[in-house]
Amino acid sequence: MASVILGILLVLVPLPLSAKAQTGGSLTLGRSLMVNDRNSSWLSPSGEFAFGFRRMARGAHLLAIWFEKIEDKTIVWSANGGDLAPEGSKVQLTADGLVLSDPRGRELWSSSLNGTGLAYAAMLNTGNFILASASHVNLWDSFSQPTDTILPTQQLDSGAALTARYSEMNYSAGRFLFRLQPDGNLVLYATPTPLDVSDAYWATNTISAGRIGFRLIFNQSGRVYLTARNGTVLHIVTSDEVPTSGFYQRAILEYDGVFRQYVHPKTANSSSAWAKGWSMVSYPVPPNICRTMNRDIGTGACGFNSYCTLGDDKIQRPRCHCPPGYTLLDSKNEMNGCREDFVSQSCDGSRPEKDQFALHDMLNADWTNSDYEVVTSKSEDQCREACLADCFCAVAIFSNEQCYKKSTPLINGKMDPSLDLKALIKVRIKNSTLTPAGNSQKKNKNSTLVIIGSVLLSSSVFLNLLLLLISYLIYKSFRSRDSKFSRPVQINQTTHMRTFNYQELQEATNGFKEELGRGSFGIVYKGVLGSEDTNFVAVKMLATRTGESEKEFEREVSAIGQTNHKNLVQLLGFCNEGQHRLLVYEFMSNGSLADFLFGSSRPSWYKRIEIACGVARGLAYLHDHCTRHIIHCDIKPQNILLDGYLAAKISDFGLAKLFDGKPNTNHHWEWFRNMPISGKVHVYSFGILLVELICCRKNFEPEAETEAQIVLVDWVYDCYRDGSELVLVEGDEEALGDMRRVRRFVMTALWCIQEDPALRPNMKKITQMLEGAVEVSVPPDPRSFISSI
Ligand SMILES: *[C@@H]1O[C@H](CO)[C@@H](O)[C@H](O)[C@H]1NC(C)=O
Ligand SMILES: *[C@@H]1O[C@H](CO)[C@@H](O)[C@H](O)[C@H]1NC(C)=O
Ligand SMILES: *[C@@H]1O[C@H](CO)[C@@H](O)[C@H](O)[C@H]1NC(C)=O
Ligand SMILES: *[C@@H]1O[C@H](CO)[C@@H](O)[C@H](O)[C@H]1NC(C)=O
Ligand SMILES: *[C@@H]1O[C@H](CO)[C@@H](O)[C@H](O)[C@H]1NC(C)=O
Ligand SMILES: *[C@@H]1O[C@H](CO)[C@@H](O)[C@H](O)[C@H]1NC(C)=O
Ligand SMILES: *[C@@H]1O[C@H](CO)[C@@H](O)[C@H](O)[C@H]1NC(C)=O
Repeated sequence: MASVILGILLVLVPLPLSAKAQTGGSLTLGRSLMVNDRNSSWLSPSGEFAFGFRRMARGAHLLAIWFEKIEDKTIVWSANGGDLAPEGSKVQLTADGLVLSDPRGRELWSSSLNGTGLAYAAMLNTGNFILASASHVNLWDSFSQPTDTILPTQQLDSGAALTARYSEMNYSAGRFLFRLQPDGNLVLYATPTPLDVSDAYWATNTISAGRIGFRLIFNQSGRVYLTARNGTVLHIVTSDEVPTSGFYQRAILEYDGVFRQYVHPKTANSSSAWAKGWSMVSYPVPPNICRTMNRDIGTGACGFNSYCTLGDDKIQRPRCHCPPGYTLLDSKNEMNGCREDFVSQSCDGSRPEKDQFALHDMLNADWTNSDYEVVTSKSEDQCREACLADCFCAVAIFSNEQCYKKSTPLINGKMDPSLDLKALIKVRIKNSTLTPAGNSQKKNKNSTLVIIGSVLLSSSVFLNLLLLLISYLIYKSFRSRDSKFSRPVQINQTTHMRTFNYQELQEATNGFKEELGRGSFGIVYKGVLGSEDTNFVAVKMLATRTGESEKEFEREVSAIGQTNHKNLVQLLGFCNEGQHRLLVYEFMSNGSLADFLFGSSRPSWYKRIEIACGVARGLAYLHDHCTRHIIHCDIKPQNILLDGYLAAKISDFGLAKLFDGKPNTNHHWEWFRNMPISGKVHVYSFGILLVELICCRKNFEPEAETEAQIVLVDWVYDCYRDGSELVLVEGDEEALGDMRRVRRFVMTALWCIQEDPALRPNMKKITQMLEGAVEVSVPPDPRSFISSI
């Protein structure tokens, strides 16, 4: 607010005219800017924002507002993205407002005034460009006509929207919309169908008590939040601590459909943590757009027939790719989708083409909601057969004895390790440029050639045998070349763990000074690696133990180090020096879920959903990808850690083996010796965690209001049975606005905590239940097993 007032004051007090006449002064009627002017901009009094023309291409100029003092002059507002101005165009301040016209006088854009009596214009220090009357009433301002960006002090009122640009450098309207609806809901939509609430891919759901979401505010502390009419904060959109003094800020709905908040140091030598350029703060909204996009229509996060992955850059920019056999429609824009690079299968029954197609395996890929038919098939081979025989089938997914057939255009494509599915992509074999199929074909051809040769040349049994031997050797050399190809990856994985010496870790932790926590396996200290002050790690000093040779220790540790999943805390290295055994983990800046969940302020429902899904995916990965002793872990809020983006990661897994776990010294030991039971125990613990996440309280609460509420899981079942799940999330507006999901989560949790382990679903199924990918059936009373014994 203060700087708005300052800005207005500066407008009221005209600066003395000088050589820099356009700096800070108010602009009177008749003033204009030409595209060809060398000084084609008007600056704010501080010189930090400029209004004027930016050259996008030869003869194509954008009327815009930008950060003047930043090297790349980041644009925050633009007028004519869809209709760029040619050389000789002009923007003029007339009595009717700002008018942008080309040299022939054609109007490219104009501001519409709310009222009459326009007296002057001004570029304010906040980044707002205003047109005002002599009595300083704003008749138009850029803050209330936002494009894709909002700045501190800017607000979005009911009905307003941000529109993503088309691509990074193309400022015409793109595919995504961030809208504060008149009904009070703040929603992200993928266009061109922003009509139906079901098309949304993210929403605050602040509509329950009728039109309560009222205003989206970006305040000067760097918070972006939604308020009710009376000022109550309803939803915090981006919430991290943001450095304010000495930093520029902006929040933007980017062309990839993700809303992100950024900061940029004002001077190049500001504090080192935010070294250079724009850095993302808080977390992206939605956190994973590839997974979030599950609409029934539209392309998904990427174009038709493509699939989305999260990039491994800092902002995890989603990337779009074509499946094998497909190519980009527009080679310059990967978001535009892909097309089949072969003639598709004929449906003319008189010329069956089944044998001209092959299925290409793609791990962890799915096209949600592209199914046109689901058939039960006992095996993957049956599913393959069914897809090849069906001319409409472009992709098949085999999962749980179901064969999901999908046809083009494929929508909602994504690839993510947590999906744990195998997609079978149908491609035509006889099209030579299909590289993956082409390669293996060539190889087969080679060995067949040798065999054919051997048959043709054989004039005696001896020669024949000799040739067979040669062909076998050639075949083997091909095979071994293949296997050599896959080996280096494994070697890399085992060696990329770092070994530390004790002194190094002593220095890194400043003599084991700052304790982060105490777990069952030892004390954890905060440390810093290298010269950079920001490279934090967590160093776990293992309690002394017996047995376990050095070799064994290192083998176990490197097995743990090989697990790699974004919902598992990554082990970076270890120290094994005499008495000292320490493990070095990535540092989780937001501490444990226990502190977060049972602390004073109830974390947002949407964050809790993300955490629940994250833990489920981490566990599913452990169960499906890891050897059995690694998967041992104790699932409870204390062992779930949160990173800088509040993403959940499971910690402390795989450590039990490092201790001489005699059956009676460690109660987990019993079940970890037996894989199937171990998995089921995790499922049970996950169920407890899930109800704790839903209700934001501990499972056992002796001080509960009524006796029936003391044990949470019992209370949850009672509420579920009585259809009164509402009381479980009493006072939680977000959850109350999302009761369908609350009910689904409750039902999933009840399945997990079945006393009969055989009834508990596996973790993969649970992730599908949580994500709504499978129907959740009515769970029985979890206690019925015990009572039936
Ligand atoms: C452009 O700006 C410079 C300094 O800011 C000034 O000296 C010069 O006269 C201006 N030129 C025009 C055409 O306004
Ligand atoms: C126009 O101005 C009036 C009075 O200043 C204000 O109440 C109204 O909300 C404005 N309308 C728009 C669309 O800005
Ligand atoms: C931006 O994208 C739109 C939509 O494809 C296209 O019509 C327009 O020509 C592009 N503009 C530029 C400057 O490339
Ligand atoms: C910004 O909003 C947050 C959250 O409501 C609040 O804690 C902070 O004090 C606000 N800052 C300013 C400058 O209003
Ligand atoms: C403000 O409005 C919200 C939603 O209508 C309501 O829940 C809250 O109690 C109100 N707060 C105050 C202080 O009136
Ligand atoms: C940054 O550089 C400016 C001038 O180069 C200097 O005045 C200022 O003290 C420096 N700030 C820091 C934090 O080093
Ligand atoms: C596949 O064959 C068709 C027709 O023979 C041809 O038009 C197309 O370019 C081929 N595709 C590739 C990838 O070679």
